[in-house]
Amino acid sequence: MTPDRSSRAAVSVPGDGGAPVRFDPPASGLRGTLRVPPDKSISHRSALFAAMGERPVRVRNHLDAADTNSTLAAVEQLGARVERHGGGELTIRGVGLRAPGGPRADAGTIDVGNAGTLMRLLPGWLAAQPGGAWTFDGDASIRRRPIDRVARPLREMGAAIEAADERFPPFTLRGAELRAIDYELPVASAQVKSCVLIAGMHTAAPTSVVEPAPSRDHTERMLAAAGVPIARDGARVTVGRVEALELDEIAVPGDLSSAAFWVAAAALVPGSRVVLEDVNVNWTRTGFLRIAERMGVRVEGELEPHGAFTPGEPVSALTVAAGPLRATTVEPAEVPLAIDELPLVALLGCFAEGETVVRGAQELKVKESDRIQTVVDGLRGLGGELEATDDGFVVRGGAGLRGGTIASHGDHRLAMLGAVAGLASREGVVVEGMEAAAVSYPGFAADLARLLER
Ligand code: S3P
Repeated sequence: MTPDRSSRAAVSVPGDGGAPVRFDPPASGLRGTLRVPPDKSISHRSALFAAMGERPVRVRNHLDAADTNSTLAAVEQLGARVERHGGGELTIRGVGLRAPGGPRADAGTIDVGNAGTLMRLLPGWLAAQPGGAWTFDGDASIRRRPIDRVARPLREMGAAIEAADERFPPFTLRGAELRAIDYELPVASAQVKSCVLIAGMHTAAPTSVVEPAPSRDHTERMLAAAGVPIARDGARVTVGRVEALELDEIAVPGDLSSAAFWVAAAALVPGSRVVLEDVNVNWTRTGFLRIAERMGVRVEGELEPHGAFTPGEPVSALTVAAGPLRATTVEPAEVPLAIDELPLVALLGCFAEGETVVRGAQELKVKESDRIQTVVDGLRGLGGELEATDDGFVVRGGAGLRGGTIASHGDHRLAMLGAVAGLASREGVVVEGMEAAAVSYPGFAADLARLLER
């Protein structure tokens, strides 16, 4: 039976946290202009690098969300002072890179909450503090996310790390005088690359990291802007020792990973036209837009050319409209450039003619949830025809989604995936655990309401 679309509210926001939230197909398209939340990766880095500085850093448009607030709390615990001026504007007074200043050695246990980026970047700094010891812990999701990927290079550099089952939080890190390494990353991970580069700012000789494929380069850009000697030569990034970071001001652009939900929603809901303002279009983040365009999504905007390396972060408005979709194959080299958006590729795939395949994405298994399993199970529960593979998924598309109930498993991107699936479905979707969206996008429901207003 076809539901009566016009008689239902498209979104009902729960009165209190935790209640399931229903998302129905709207009577007409999504329309309007939005400023998506500030970039999560860049917000984490701005707080961490400002904390390592000696002079006050003004951060504009910092993300006010659970994940990035964990980072602010951590740097405060380590001795940095954070002044919150409102509207995402902060002044951060850092403690300096190392002794005689440096992070407080008696800070105790650092609670990273749900934030993998905090858990993997901060150890790079603390590992370089001889005599200091810190314990890291977080929520249930973080406790299943591996830290051996950062423990290995940091141990090679001289730090000591003891972890649960050798590889999971909680873990204790003891700092040391670090030695330089030339490290070949076993996985393309910006978090691991960043950790080693941060540690490398403290080694007497230059430290290098070699990536199997390019991953997001916000750390490199921000360190270059802070006067750190850092150079890229093909897949190799080399950092030299520095005494102080020279950062004064950081303006955080809009988050492409948050914008991606509206790109998908506008592509799937007939009659939509959405403009997303000031979105970060650093080429190491725009893989999803290129995949979406290949699938037939009409995206207008000025994307940074592939391979660019400038100190700043480019921004553009993105205009997206609905259109017919076709299947595509996402190859391993594209995966790091679209890693957090691959759940949306699965969703688009359900509506695209043909078979959409994602390969080389085994990293999805160690995200906030096992995103191969949760995406495949979640979309199947809504009527999607897809299968998990060892390193991704295969979607048989064209029939769209019926609707039903999807669980977020406490994963912010799963929650928002369910919401967009509901808008695009025939019968609507109930998302259990929608509150998880607050990890990166606290205003998600309000922004959706704005796109539904007319
Ligand atoms: C991030 C890097 C990616 C990404 C995560 C944020 C970062 O993780 O999935 O959401 O800020 O560096 P990996 O580097 O582990 O792939």
